[in-house]
Amino acid sequence: MAMSKRMRSIVRTGRLALAAFTILVLSATAVTAAQAPLAFRGGQTSKPQANTAAAPWWKHAVIYEIYPRSFQDSDGDGVGDLNGITQRLDYLQTLGVDAIWLSPIYPSPLVDFGYDISDYQSIDPQYGTLADFDRLTSEANKRGIRIIMDMVMNHTSDKHPWFIESASSKTNPKRDWYVWRDGKPGGTPPNNPPNNWTSIFGHSAWQYDPKTSQYYYHRFYIQQPDLNWSNPAVENAMFGAVRFWLDRNVAGFRLDAIPTLFEDPKLRDAKLQPGTNAYGDPNQDTSLYENLPEVHDIMRHLRATVDKYPGQRVLIGETYLPNIAELDKWYGGTKHNELQLPMDMLVGFINKLDAATFRQRISDAETKISGNQPLFVFDNHDNIRSWNRYGDGTHNDAIAHLLAAILFTTRSTAMMYYGQELGMTTTPPERKEDVKDPIGITGWPREKGRDGERTPMQWDDSKNAGFSTAASTWLPVAADYTAKNVKAEQSDPNSLFSWYKQLIAMRKTNPTLRDGSMTMLDVTNPSVLSYVRKSVSGHPPVLVVLNFTGTTQTVSFDPRKDHLPSGNAHTLLTNATSLQQQSSLAQIELPPYATWIASLQ
Ligand code: NOJ
Ligand code: MG
Repeated sequence: MAMSKRMRSIVRTGRLALAAFTILVLSATAVTAAQAPLAFRGGQTSKPQANTAAAPWWKHAVIYEIYPRSFQDSDGDGVGDLNGITQRLDYLQTLGVDAIWLSPIYPSPLVDFGYDISDYQSIDPQYGTLADFDRLTSEANKRGIRIIMDMVMNHTSDKHPWFIESASSKTNPKRDWYVWRDGKPGGTPPNNPPNNWTSIFGHSAWQYDPKTSQYYYHRFYIQQPDLNWSNPAVENAMFGAVRFWLDRNVAGFRLDAIPTLFEDPKLRDAKLQPGTNAYGDPNQDTSLYENLPEVHDIMRHLRATVDKYPGQRVLIGETYLPNIAELDKWYGGTKHNELQLPMDMLVGFINKLDAATFRQRISDAETKISGNQPLFVFDNHDNIRSWNRYGDGTHNDAIAHLLAAILFTTRSTAMMYYGQELGMTTTPPERKEDVKDPIGITGWPREKGRDGERTPMQWDDSKNAGFSTAASTWLPVAADYTAKNVKAEQSDPNSLFSWYKQLIAMRKTNPTLRDGSMTMLDVTNPSVLSYVRKSVSGHPPVLVVLNFTGTTQTVSFDPRKDHLPSGNAHTLLTNATSLQQQSSLAQIELPPYATWIASLQ
């Protein structure tokens, strides 16, 4: 299994943009594509979902990722904060958000903007205080919105007291909390690391510490030493942090980089693969340091811990995995005893509008995860925004509509990233000296870092897009904000925002979309993806038809052959004016990238 380096897809603008994790997805693509049958034999129907009343909240939820630095600044320092988020809760409620996943807000030296934690049980003063956090939680809860914390268990900051102690001497009781090793005999430190493993952020994964003449392992930045999860004391300490937040009433966790907890105890060299990454290191097979089976014991223990709390707390995994069989293991398969929602990155990061691949991957999520609940995601703070990844430069808006339709009309729990609902673009820095994300400095110009997808939320057309009153913001606001912002899109019924809002409302209220089964139709069509959702309790079926191409496509359905009602169709939502009155299934003409969602009577 080759989950390798962080790298992005070639964006259609011709720019080779490289950044974290997408090569995980790209290699995943290769593996799954190779294993997939040549033609999709589809038409399988997933089990209809009954018993809605008993369904846990997260099953029908819209989970909205906020990158706190970039959402709303309340104190004018140019950096977003917790009170800013509290001010914007009404907006999130209007959109239909059920839960917010907050990227890390703990005290941190901010080398990796919060993913390097120096205290797991407090709030970084840049974002506010624990009292601000409690107020955010209670105001959110009043609006039916839950708070999900980002939990970084693989590594701490090198400024965390645990690491400072661990580094202080070879005999310190916390020495074994991290992965320390002698270098290979022969070379001169730091040129003789224990093995050839590379960091996902470039170069050797081993950092030499002259103080104790040993190396420590870091899968991410040098300032993010990996914890040693084979030491039970580490598990105890980290679970203490988990309980701290559960006691504070969080609804669950998004588990950062969770497949990286364990490493091969023998530290064998990784096999090299063809090519180099953005940092010039030879690509390597990551199977000795990613997705090791031991991690599942920890996940079961974590699930048991979380399940002791009332209120259906949820575990969401950042699970870039090579194929659906690996993903199923993260649920605990048929035992359902690990994460409730490991992210399915196999659908959202196909990075190519190919109807057959989408059909295959969505069907896999329906039929190959032991009846567990899928979680699709198209955007996050690590990857070029879907607007740019899937857009062709001409039809980006229609394509964004189509992707949103997939997110909200399949059975998946929906996860989205701030600004996705506006069609926010990735706007990378133009000059190396402006880069904030360290990998953009190490990898320039092949890897410009992740600043481009972390630009401030675009609220209106005023100064700094309404994000901040500061003279300058931590990252510049994207230039398109005067036209593309919440205020403008809220008053435009044809905007992407209005589309998101309608889709979310429809998925919440339409019983078929909530709990109906899912069957792919027209399964050999290479250009149009079609599926029907059918209710168990007599509500009308819902047909979804998506044109994946830039040319007009005509499709038809045969009620008898396709097991559909023979009456008229009634449009629920479309972005094609020509389809608004479409009532027949005999000849449906879809403009480029059009979406048609219809109720079948
Ligand atoms: C995944 C996070 O999403 C990313 O932003 C971070 O840099 C790494 N994990 C390391 O924590
Ligand atoms: Mg690790």
